[in-house]
Amino acid sequence: MTVPRENVGQKTTASRESQQHLFQALENTCRFYQQQLKKSDAAITYLKQRGLTGEIAKQYRLGFALSGWDHLLKAVGNTPDMVQDLLTTGLLIKKNDGGYYDRFRERIMFPIRDRSGRLIGFGGRVLDNGTPKYLNSPETVLFHKGRELYGLYEARLANRELKYIVVVEGYMDVLALAQVGITCAVATLGTATTTQHLQQLLRQTNKIIFCFDGDTAGRTAAWRALEVTLPVLQEGSQVHFLFLPEGEDPDSLVRKEQALGFLKRLDESVSLPDYLFNT
Ligand code: UTP
Ligand code: MN
Repeated sequence: MTVPRENVGQKTTASRESQQHLFQALENTCRFYQQQLKKSDAAITYLKQRGLTGEIAKQYRLGFALSGWDHLLKAVGNTPDMVQDLLTTGLLIKKNDGGYYDRFRERIMFPIRDRSGRLIGFGGRVLDNGTPKYLNSPETVLFHKGRELYGLYEARLANRELKYIVVVEGYMDVLALAQVGITCAVATLGTATTTQHLQQLLRQTNKIIFCFDGDTAGRTAAWRALEVTLPVLQEGSQVHFLFLPEGEDPDSLVRKEQALGFLKRLDESVSLPDYLFNT
């Protein structure tokens, strides 16, 4: 049988195969969004109003995608190869007539990095009440929502040793906690907790604290997290659950109670066995 081989043309150099060019496309995009943020008063005002400092914005490389259909396309997609890479990484969308347009428009951009710091995707938030509130990169060769945790790289960077990791729901929760010095929070990307998340977390720490809303949805999500956790729980690892008061998320709560209040809640979180048997 003939072994099918890829057409080894000029483009298929080692670097193209290693996906380095895709990371580069994301890096160029991130820098572009960061530059745009610096020039966008409305976006800066929004972030300030949500209580974020410039320092946090810089650390998490926050950016802004302007309104309009081709800002990124024009600024970063200036060669056919780069357009292809922006398409592959989900930053451009192909039109029926063969043209392209920017996926993210008029949104605060949250770059998502893998645990070693490489950019793999973005989340984008509207400034107003538009929908969807958050738009995330689609699944790509680099980005798998069910595997990645927002903030894990930054948490590793900020802590020599992660005594515990707090798992929250939103990008803004991670940022609000980091801002008050609780730099060990990560967020799932709008998906339920998966086995892969758990494995990823248990490689970094012995203790995981899941933080959920106190409402029905939060309780359902917590139980589901417990079910996913049980089979992968290892000797020596601890899993806790923190239920927040109804209507609060870590972002809102930490602004009311400051770091100390939130740390006290973490301290009083319920252990997995207690949660299991009580429920
Ligand atoms: P939330 O709506 O609870 O996020 O969604 P949040 O961080 O509290 O939002 P704001 O900015 O404070 O209002 C939690 C997470 O679910 C995903 C995002 O990852 C978000 O951070 N999500 C939410 C989406 O992917 N799309 C949506 O439309 C909404
Ligand atoms: Mn919130």
